[in-house]
Amino acid sequence: MGKQRVLSGVQPTGNYHLGNYLGAIRNWVEGQSEYENYLFVADLHAITVPHDPTQLAADTYTLAALYLACGLDLNHSTIFVQSHVSAHSELTWLLNCITPLNWLQDMIQFKEKAVKQGENVSAGLLDYPVLMAADILLYQADKVPVGEDQKQHLELTRDIAARLNHQFGKPDHQPVLKLPDPLIRKEGARVMSLADGTRKMSKSDPSELSRISLLDSPEQIQYKIKRCKTDPIRGLTFDDPARPECNNLLTLYTLLSGKRKEDVAVECQDMGWGQFKPLLTDTIIESLKPIQEKYQVITADKSYLESVLRDGGEKARAIANQTLSQVKAALGYSLPL
Ligand code: TRP
Repeated sequence: MGKQRVLSGVQPTGNYHLGNYLGAIRNWVEGQSEYENYLFVADLHAITVPHDPTQLAADTYTLAALYLACGLDLNHSTIFVQSHVSAHSELTWLLNCITPLNWLQDMIQFKEKAVKQGENVSAGLLDYPVLMAADILLYQADKVPVGEDQKQHLELTRDIAARLNHQFGKPDHQPVLKLPDPLIRKEGARVMSLADGTRKMSKSDPSELSRISLLDSPEQIQYKIKRCKTDPIRGLTFDDPARPECNNLLTLYTLLSGKRKEDVAVECQDMGWGQFKPLLTDTIIESLKPIQEKYQVITADKSYLESVLRDGGEKARAIANQTLSQVKAALGYSLPL
């Protein structure tokens, strides 16, 4: 039996931070040899909110370089850019026409983002989950690593696939689209803001001090940890709902040091912030150093990265176009070109 296929992506919206790494990219890297991985830069998703066209290509390029710098191995993983595979847009249209509007209106993330955007909500923002469904279904992915905030989108993907199979599949045939399962990791790595331990670390937070970017210098990291929000209590503990910042900083330390949670709980139980912060600072600096070094090497040779993305796009297109043809045939598009 072949390996199961994993598919995932991150949006190229700049400010890549520890939450992106610990919540997504590092997990892809850790599991990569068990699976056949398709990992892409979600640049079509990036324009569902107002974007800066002068930044899009640079942000795409940086993210793809970070995928490699974080350890994705081309023997196991195909890396590509979403907009290089036109089947994503085309399947989105086909799926749009079988997706009930109220399914999209009920998506939590849409409602949250729409509130933030006020008057300026595009049809693309509403349609974002259908594009995500197309991303996943085109590759007949078995597993999709998802965080809490994307779970509802994966469920929607399954609902759309089931609906298409039901309405247009042939009962005695293989289903047209495979229903993907979530890939849930044991260690829930939800990295929270350094300024508020109850909110996720976010690319769009206006304050740089709320996040550690993957390309931050040691000085910047030191400064941000020095300034980050804590509490006046001595002795550090996990999972105290009254101490969200404490839980977040201990979790960061645990994930980056590779130590076990139980061991960190003991190590830090009597510490004050003055002792813990330098320890966390050093751990972050040390963990990011190899990534940053590799990033420098990769970005020094633009043609290498371009060739990775060109090859990745070619492999991705071959699979995506095949699924797209099957869906078109199922919907009745059978006239020759
Ligand atoms: N929506 C995802 C996010 O913002 C990114 C994404 C786009 C994605 N398409 C995907 C993730 C398909 C998994 C599978 O995090």
